[in-house]
Amino acid sequence: MWQTEEIKKNLKGKIFGRQIHSFNELGSTQDIAHTLASSGAPEGTLVIAETQTYGKGRLGKRWLSPKGGLWFSLLLTPILVSLSQASGLTILIALSIARVIRNETQINALIKWPNDLYINNKKIGGILTESSSVEVALKYIVLGVGINVNNDVSSLPFGATSLKHELGKEILALDFLAKILVSMEEDYSIFKNIHNLSPFLNEINELSLVVGKQVKAQLPHKSIEGYARGIDEHGYLLIELKDGQIQRLTAGEIKLL
Ligand code: BTN
Repeated sequence: MWQTEEIKKNLKGKIFGRQIHSFNELGSTQDIAHTLASSGAPEGTLVIAETQTYGKGRLGKRWLSPKGGLWFSLLLTPILVSLSQASGLTILIALSIARVIRNETQINALIKWPNDLYINNKKIGGILTESSSVEVALKYIVLGVGINVNNDVSSLPFGATSLKHELGKEILALDFLAKILVSMEEDYSIFKNIHNLSPFLNEINELSLVVGKQVKAQLPHKSIEGYARGIDEHGYLLIELKDGQIQRLTAGEIKLL
């Protein structure tokens, strides 16, 4: 089990990780974070597990969570952010993590809209944002982060990679976690005040895997093809269709063509 004192000693911020619930094995850290939210846990509460038996990915997919990775959920209460504004948060957190990977390892980590982290065209991590709302106002968000850190690729899904595999050596997972939490808290504090991504747009677009590429986007009822022109201040992906029209995507699966 990750030791909470070890995590806390490197945290600089006041919010993320002020309460830590650490487990050996769990179904999903998301579910525990939702339960804690209902019982009044404060913003920044962190739930972390060494392994998950029922890790949840986006679009109802399973998320393999063997020992060696960082699997955690954070409780956030961005009171003034509406449901649509929350989509920017996912890509912002992806940026916070990509930045730490780049600074700490010099590996070219990229963000794959809307919620993935990639290295060398292979997935290294993902973010799952689940919200609970009252009418249109958000009550809270459970932000789940999964990063393949010291995992062997043989224990991961086909096409996935880990930091250990890309670096050729293990890293200190808890030091890395503390750095991510610090970076996330700094970015989140700015986002929470202005409710959009404008201060981060250049960095997000520069580190985007899909921007500038020809892509196919799978939407709920159809697929579209075009050029990914950029990510806007709400976290939407702008696709230029063949006829020159720009389509704003709020969600979808993107394939590079
Ligand atoms: C995705 O890429 O589909 C998102 C994956 C998110 C996985 C993390 S691991 C910690 C947290 N608990 C879960 O059950 N899922 C998220």
